[in-house]
Amino acid sequence: MTGPLPPKPMRASRISISQLMHPEHANLLGNVHGGWIMKLVDEAGALACMRHSQRRVVTVAIDSMVFRNPIKIGDLVILNAEVTYTGRTSLEAQVEVQAENPITGERTHTNTAYLVYVALDDNGKPTSVPPLQAETEEEKRKMQQAEERQARRLTQRK
Ligand SMILES: CC(C)(COP(=O)(O)OP(=O)(O)OC[C@H]1O[C@@H](n2cnc3c(N)ncnc32)[C@H](O)[C@@H]1OP(=O)(O)O)[C@@H](O)C(=O)NCCC(=O)NCCS
Repeated sequence: MTGPLPPKPMRASRISISQLMHPEHANLLGNVHGGWIMKLVDEAGALACMRHSQRRVVTVAIDSMVFRNPIKIGDLVILNAEVTYTGRTSLEAQVEVQAENPITGERTHTNTAYLVYVALDDNGKPTSVPPLQAETEEEKRKMQQAEERQARRLTQRK
């Protein structure tokens, strides 16, 4: 038997990924296809959760995503992900999406998404994850809000 896992600070799993948007990422209107952004959001959230848990993770829930501004072909998409909640085997990641015009440097916040993952052991079964540790007031607030979101998801699931 092993004891409880030691807590890990929120900053330890923070991750940022960037990708240049090419014509192959376009929708019929010539902007970036929303499904492509959803894939990148899922990957960024999973990476933050893998960093935190040091396990493979699967996506179990994605909250609604609202795209507030179109992303253009030629823009650099920047995804900032961090773990905001841990349960026993589940983790929530917040993923913030920005689009940058690499010529002007102008950045637009396009959306923020929340996703829940479950960590899996080597046999593909849910396994426990280290508790999340907030080090700042801002992180405490984020963790509190994430707990409320997870409670709502579990109520809706019933
Ligand atoms: C994720 C999976 C392994 C969970 O297995 P399970 O036997 O249902 O496990 P549980 O019911 O114990 O749930 C595991 C954790 O997920 C959480 N969870 C389950 N459903 C959830 C939901 N709808 N929203 C938020 N959290 C959820 C549970 O609260 C639990 O968290 P905890 O351990 O921190 O308390 C299983 O549902 C699965 O394999 N789903 C498919 C995942 C996948 O393939 N994703 C890619 C989509 S193609």
